[in-house]
Amino acid sequence: MIEVKNLKKGFEDKLVIKGVDATMQAGKCNLIIGSSGSGKTVFMKCLVGLFEPDEGEILYSGNDLVTMSDEEKKETRKQIGMLFQGSALFDSLTVEQNVMFPLDMFTKDSYQDKLKRVNEVLARVNLKDANKKFPAEISGGMKKRVGIARAIVLNPKYLFCDEPNSGLDPQTSLVIDQLIKELTTEYNITTVINTHDMNSVMEIGDNIIYMYQGHKEWEGNNKEIIFNKNEKLNSFIFASEFLKDAKDMRMLEVKGKIDNDRNMDELLNSDEDVLNS
Ligand SMILES: Nc1ncnc2c1ncn2[C@@H]1O[C@H](COP(=O)(O)OP(=O)(O)OP(=O)(O)O)[C@@H](O)[C@H]1O
Ligand SMILES: [Mg+2]
Repeated sequence: MIEVKNLKKGFEDKLVIKGVDATMQAGKCNLIIGSSGSGKTVFMKCLVGLFEPDEGEILYSGNDLVTMSDEEKKETRKQIGMLFQGSALFDSLTVEQNVMFPLDMFTKDSYQDKLKRVNEVLARVNLKDANKKFPAEISGGMKKRVGIARAIVLNPKYLFCDEPNSGLDPQTSLVIDQLIKELTTEYNITTVINTHDMNSVMEIGDNIIYMYQGHKEWEGNNKEIIFNKNEKLNSFIFASEFLKDAKDMRMLEVKGKIDNDRNMDELLNSDEDVLNS
């Protein structure tokens, strides 16, 4: 679990994160959503220790990352895996070497042990025959999987993913989302994901934090988000007419006005007032 208390972070005279309180739960996918520039990446970089906050606490199992000793910080960082936006693989290293990199940095294991672990995680992300390939030779979805394999190779307690679906088609995005979700549950990881992707929100959003101009504007889960009454959040998630219509349909379904096997012709010919009831 990670507890964030009154987190503030600015650059020069501009405050970007304006006092955020949040709890990231273990074994859950904790999603940070919000429009471009709302502060998601800055927030995540504070959480992993890449930015030093101006104020506030970031408690890893009750221990504050901001004030802990360098030794404790190093130990905490070892428990953190991160999937960067765009995967951030080393172009000159093979898939195998990319995934082995954190083991080279943080362990004194033998080459054979490291290779065994690399092969385990590559198999876990369904990338068995890609060891000797270079990043330029594999697809975007495969690169994300290599990024995930590298992020979990040290058995992290905490996993951070900044826009894991950027640049992927909806089906590949779903595969990546499901993989992150499975790993989170399987290893009881506290996972934090920055995303714009509404499919991800609906599929894996156990705990969702909506950021608006550096504030936490709303918090809930993927069941609550559909019927939320927050105007700002609604204009963010239902930005298209199509999604607004889909929400109306879902409302009618929940109210029992239509059923799942609805006959569209019947519905379209029915009293229009039904949509306003
Ligand atoms: N290193 C920096 N120095 C100065 N300002 C920064 C820095 N990093 C981010 N900012 C500013 O902080 C604000 C929030 O940026 P951030 O990257 O966190 O947004 P975001 O929500 O992640 O957006 P996106 O969805 O586009 O990734 C922006 O106004 C940005 O210009
Ligand atoms: Mg960002």
